[in-house]
Amino acid sequence: MRTPIIAGNWKMNKTIGEALDFFKVLDQELQQFSGTEKLEIVIAPPYTAINKIAEFLKDSSIKISAQNMFWEDAGAFTGEISAPMLKDAGAKYVIIGHSERRQFFNETESAVNKKIKAALKHNIIPIFCIGETLAERETEKIESVISTQLTGGLIDLTANDITKIVIAYEPVWAIGTGKTATKEQAEEVHLMIRQMLAKQFGQANADVIRILYGGSVKPSNSKELLSQPNIDGALIGGASLKLEDFIGIIKSVI
Ligand code: PGA
Repeated sequence: MRTPIIAGNWKMNKTIGEALDFFKVLDQELQQFSGTEKLEIVIAPPYTAINKIAEFLKDSSIKISAQNMFWEDAGAFTGEISAPMLKDAGAKYVIIGHSERRQFFNETESAVNKKIKAALKHNIIPIFCIGETLAERETEKIESVISTQLTGGLIDLTANDITKIVIAYEPVWAIGTGKTATKEQAEEVHLMIRQMLAKQFGQANADVIRILYGGSVKPSNSKELLSQPNIDGALIGGASLKLEDFIGIIKSVI
Protein backbone atom coordinates (compact mmCIF):
# COMPACT_ATOMS: atom_id res chain seq x y z
CA MET A 1 0.00 0.00 0.00
CA ARG A 2 1.34 3.39 -0.99
CA THR A 3 0.37 6.23 1.38
CA PRO A 4 -0.84 9.11 -0.78
CA ILE A 5 0.89 12.48 -0.45
CA ILE A 6 -0.85 15.81 -0.83
CA ALA A 7 1.97 18.31 -1.28
CA GLY A 8 1.74 22.06 -1.73
CA ASN A 9 4.46 23.95 -3.56
CA TRP A 10 4.17 27.59 -2.56
CA LYS A 11 6.93 28.72 -4.96
CA MET A 12 7.98 32.34 -4.24
CA ASN A 13 4.92 33.23 -2.18
CA LYS A 14 4.09 34.12 1.45
CA THR A 15 6.01 35.86 4.20
CA ILE A 16 6.63 34.15 7.55
CA GLY A 17 3.56 35.85 9.04
CA GLU A 18 1.33 34.82 6.14
CA ALA A 19 2.63 31.25 6.35
CA LEU A 20 1.94 31.01 10.10
CA ASP A 21 -1.59 32.37 9.62
CA PHE A 22 -2.19 29.67 7.00
CA PHE A 23 -0.92 26.83 9.21
CA LYS A 24 -2.84 27.99 12.30
CA VAL A 25 -6.09 27.51 10.38
CA LEU A 26 -4.99 24.40 8.47
CA ASP A 27 -3.92 22.57 11.61
CA GLN A 28 -7.24 23.35 13.34
CA GLU A 29 -9.32 22.44 10.31
CA LEU A 30 -7.56 19.12 9.83
CA GLN A 31 -8.31 18.12 13.40
CA GLN A 32 -12.02 18.45 12.64
CA PHE A 33 -12.29 15.61 10.18
CA SER A 34 -11.04 12.07 10.20
CA GLY A 35 -9.17 10.26 7.48
CA THR A 36 -6.18 12.58 7.26
CA GLU A 37 -4.06 9.89 8.95
CA LYS A 38 -4.38 7.95 5.67
CA LEU A 39 -2.45 10.74 3.91
CA GLU A 40 0.85 12.54 4.18
CA ILE A 41 0.38 16.28 3.99
CA VAL A 42 3.45 18.25 2.96
CA ILE A 43 3.95 21.95 2.25
CA ALA A 44 6.99 23.52 0.60
CA PRO A 45 7.18 27.16 1.74
CA PRO A 46 10.03 29.49 0.74
CA TYR A 47 13.33 28.84 2.58
CA THR A 48 12.78 31.89 4.79
CA ALA A 49 9.68 30.40 6.45
CA ILE A 50 10.83 26.78 6.89
CA ASN A 51 12.22 27.00 10.39
CA LYS A 52 9.41 29.06 11.93
CA ILE A 53 6.79 26.75 10.42
CA ALA A 54 8.62 23.58 11.44
CA GLU A 55 8.73 24.85 15.03
CA PHE A 56 5.05 25.73 14.88
CA LEU A 57 4.18 22.28 13.50
CA LYS A 58 6.42 20.24 15.79
CA ASP A 59 3.44 18.29 17.21
CA SER A 60 1.52 18.14 13.95
CA SER A 61 1.60 15.45 11.26
CA ILE A 62 2.00 18.07 8.51
CA LYS A 63 5.52 17.92 7.09
CA ILE A 64 7.68 20.62 5.59
CA SER A 65 9.56 20.48 2.32
CA ALA A 66 12.07 22.82 0.72
CA GLN A 67 11.67 23.78 -2.94
CA ASN A 68 15.30 23.27 -3.93
CA MET A 69 18.78 22.75 -2.45
CA PHE A 70 22.45 22.59 -3.48
CA TRP A 71 24.37 19.32 -3.57
CA GLU A 72 27.43 20.32 -1.51
CA ASP A 73 27.19 20.27 2.29
CA ALA A 74 28.96 23.61 2.87
CA GLY A 75 31.45 25.99 1.30
CA ALA A 76 31.88 28.98 -1.01
CA PHE A 77 28.57 28.74 -2.91
CA THR A 78 27.02 32.16 -2.44
CA GLY A 79 23.25 32.09 -2.27
CA GLU A 80 22.89 28.34 -1.97
CA ILE A 81 21.34 26.20 0.80
CA SER A 82 22.55 22.68 1.63
CA ALA A 83 20.82 19.50 2.78
CA PRO A 84 22.28 19.69 6.33
CA MET A 85 20.93 23.26 6.57
CA LEU A 86 17.48 22.14 5.47
CA LYS A 87 17.52 19.32 7.97
CA ASP A 88 18.60 21.70 10.71
CA ALA A 89 15.72 24.04 9.79
CA GLY A 90 13.18 21.19 10.00
CA ALA A 91 12.56 20.15 6.37
CA LYS A 92 11.80 16.48 5.78
CA TYR A 93 11.33 16.68 2.00
CA VAL A 94 12.88 18.66 -0.83
CA ILE A 95 11.48 19.28 -4.32
CA ILE A 96 14.19 18.64 -6.89
CA GLY A 97 14.20 19.38 -10.62
CA HIS A 98 10.97 21.37 -10.76
CA SER A 99 10.35 22.56 -14.33
CA GLU A 100 10.71 26.19 -13.21
CA ARG A 101 14.20 25.39 -11.90
CA ARG A 102 15.04 23.67 -15.18
CA GLN A 103 13.60 26.54 -17.25
CA PHE A 104 14.71 29.67 -15.35
CA PHE A 105 17.84 28.43 -13.58
CA ASN A 106 19.22 26.07 -16.23
CA GLU A 107 19.08 23.05 -13.95
CA THR A 108 20.49 20.07 -15.83
CA GLU A 109 19.91 16.33 -15.44
CA SER A 110 23.35 16.04 -13.85
CA ALA A 111 22.62 18.78 -11.29
CA VAL A 112 19.31 17.11 -10.45
CA ASN A 113 21.09 13.79 -9.97
CA LYS A 114 23.68 15.31 -7.59
CA LYS A 115 20.92 16.99 -5.58
CA ILE A 116 18.91 13.77 -5.25
CA LYS A 117 21.99 11.91 -4.02
CA ALA A 118 22.86 14.66 -1.54
CA ALA A 119 19.29 14.75 -0.18
CA LEU A 120 19.28 10.97 0.33
CA LYS A 121 22.67 11.09 2.03
CA HIS A 122 21.13 13.39 4.65
CA ASN A 123 17.83 11.50 4.94
CA ILE A 124 15.74 14.16 3.26
CA ILE A 125 13.14 12.73 0.90
CA PRO A 126 13.52 14.08 -2.62
CA ILE A 127 10.36 14.86 -4.60
CA PHE A 128 11.88 14.44 -8.03
CA CYS A 129 9.96 16.31 -10.76
CA ILE A 130 9.78 15.27 -14.40
CA GLY A 131 7.47 16.13 -17.28
CA GLU A 132 7.23 17.02 -20.94
CA THR A 133 6.50 20.37 -22.63
CA LEU A 134 3.55 20.85 -24.96
CA ALA A 135 5.82 20.74 -28.03
CA GLU A 136 7.29 17.44 -26.83
CA ARG A 137 3.80 16.00 -26.28
CA GLU A 138 2.63 17.16 -29.70
CA THR A 139 5.62 15.58 -31.42
CA GLU A 140 5.14 12.29 -29.55
CA LYS A 141 8.32 12.58 -27.52
CA ILE A 142 6.77 11.94 -24.11
CA GLU A 143 8.38 8.54 -23.66
CA SER A 144 11.87 9.65 -24.66
CA VAL A 145 11.72 12.84 -22.56
CA ILE A 146 10.46 11.01 -19.47
CA SER A 147 13.03 8.26 -19.95
CA THR A 148 15.92 10.75 -20.30
CA GLN A 149 14.85 12.74 -17.24
CA LEU A 150 14.23 9.64 -15.16
CA THR A 151 17.45 7.82 -15.99
CA GLY A 152 19.52 11.04 -15.83
CA GLY A 153 18.15 11.98 -12.42
CA LEU A 154 18.59 8.50 -10.97
CA ILE A 155 22.15 7.68 -12.10
CA ASP A 156 24.08 5.69 -9.45
CA LEU A 157 21.04 5.20 -7.24
CA THR A 158 20.63 1.75 -5.73
CA ALA A 159 17.37 -0.19 -5.53
CA ASN A 160 17.32 0.67 -1.81
CA ASP A 161 17.74 4.41 -2.55
CA ILE A 162 14.95 4.37 -5.06
CA THR A 163 12.33 3.19 -2.57
CA LYS A 164 12.97 6.34 -0.53
CA ILE A 165 12.24 8.85 -3.25
CA VAL A 166 8.98 10.37 -4.44
CA ILE A 167 8.46 11.18 -8.10
CA ALA A 168 6.21 13.97 -9.37
CA TYR A 169 4.98 13.83 -12.94
CA GLU A 170 4.23 17.41 -13.90
CA PRO A 171 3.50 18.03 -17.58
CA VAL A 172 5.00 21.49 -18.14
CA TRP A 173 1.98 22.59 -20.23
CA ALA A 174 -0.32 21.97 -17.25
CA ILE A 175 1.66 23.93 -14.65
CA GLY A 176 -0.05 27.19 -13.70
CA THR A 177 -2.05 27.20 -16.93
CA GLY A 178 -5.39 25.89 -15.70
CA LYS A 179 -5.02 23.04 -18.23
CA THR A 180 -4.96 19.71 -16.45
CA ALA A 181 -4.05 16.40 -17.97
CA THR A 182 -7.13 14.19 -18.12
CA LYS A 183 -7.10 11.28 -15.70
CA GLU A 184 -6.39 8.98 -18.66
CA GLN A 185 -3.47 11.10 -19.93
CA ALA A 186 -1.98 11.31 -16.45
CA GLU A 187 -2.47 7.61 -15.65
CA GLU A 188 -0.86 6.61 -18.95
CA VAL A 189 2.36 8.46 -18.09
CA HIS A 190 2.33 7.36 -14.44
CA LEU A 191 2.09 3.74 -15.54
CA MET A 192 4.90 4.33 -18.05
CA ILE A 193 7.09 5.78 -15.28
CA ARG A 194 6.38 2.82 -13.00
CA GLN A 195 7.23 0.38 -15.79
CA MET A 196 10.52 2.21 -16.47
CA LEU A 197 11.35 2.06 -12.77
CA ALA A 198 10.47 -1.65 -12.67
CA LYS A 199 12.80 -2.34 -15.60
CA GLN A 200 15.70 -0.60 -13.88
CA PHE A 201 15.08 -1.43 -10.21
CA GLY A 202 12.70 -4.41 -10.18
CA GLN A 203 8.90 -4.55 -9.92
CA ALA A 204 8.81 -4.88 -6.12
CA ASN A 205 10.79 -1.66 -5.69
CA ALA A 206 8.82 0.18 -8.39
CA ASP A 207 5.60 -0.80 -6.63
CA VAL A 208 6.45 1.08 -3.43
CA ILE A 209 7.41 4.39 -5.10
CA ARG A 210 4.85 7.17 -4.80
CA ILE A 211 4.28 8.98 -8.08
CA LEU A 212 2.46 12.31 -7.65
CA TYR A 213 0.67 14.23 -10.37
CA GLY A 214 1.16 17.99 -10.65
CA GLY A 215 -0.28 20.61 -12.98
CA SER A 216 -3.38 22.71 -12.19
CA VAL A 217 -4.69 20.30 -9.56
CA LYS A 218 -7.74 21.79 -7.82
CA PRO A 219 -10.64 20.55 -5.67
CA SER A 220 -12.77 19.92 -8.76
CA ASN A 221 -10.31 17.51 -10.42
CA SER A 222 -8.29 16.02 -7.55
CA LYS A 223 -10.65 13.14 -6.79
CA GLU A 224 -10.71 11.71 -10.31
CA LEU A 225 -6.95 12.14 -10.79
CA LEU A 226 -6.09 10.54 -7.47
CA SER A 227 -8.43 7.62 -7.99
CA GLN A 228 -6.20 6.32 -10.78
CA PRO A 229 -4.21 3.20 -9.83
CA ASN A 230 -0.76 4.71 -10.44
CA ILE A 231 -1.42 8.23 -9.15
CA ASP A 232 -0.35 8.36 -5.51
CA GLY A 233 -0.98 11.98 -4.67
CA ALA A 234 -0.59 15.48 -5.98
CA LEU A 235 1.95 18.29 -6.10
CA ILE A 236 -0.12 21.46 -6.02
CA GLY A 237 1.05 24.97 -6.85
CA GLY A 238 -1.59 27.71 -7.14
CA ALA A 239 -4.36 25.89 -5.27
CA SER A 240 -2.06 25.19 -2.28
CA LEU A 241 -1.83 28.91 -1.54
CA LYS A 242 -5.54 29.17 -0.78
CA LEU A 243 -6.66 27.39 2.37
CA GLU A 244 -10.12 26.59 1.05
CA ASP A 245 -8.73 24.98 -2.09
CA PHE A 246 -5.99 23.06 -0.32
CA ILE A 247 -8.44 21.73 2.28
CA GLY A 248 -10.91 20.99 -0.53
CA ILE A 249 -8.30 18.83 -2.24
CA ILE A 250 -7.51 16.98 0.99
CA LYS A 251 -11.22 16.39 1.66
CA SER A 252 -11.76 15.10 -1.87
CA VAL A 253 -9.32 12.25 -1.36
CA ILE A 254 -10.02 11.00 2.17
P1 PGA B 1 0.10 24.47 -10.39
O1 PGA B 1 1.65 24.18 -10.12
O2 PGA B 1 -0.70 23.60 -9.47
O3 PGA B 1 -0.08 25.95 -10.08
O4 PGA B 1 -0.16 24.16 -11.82
C1 PGA B 1 2.11 22.87 -9.89
C2 PGA B 1 3.60 22.88 -9.63
O5 PGA B 1 4.30 23.70 -10.21
O6 PGA B 1 4.10 22.09 -8.83
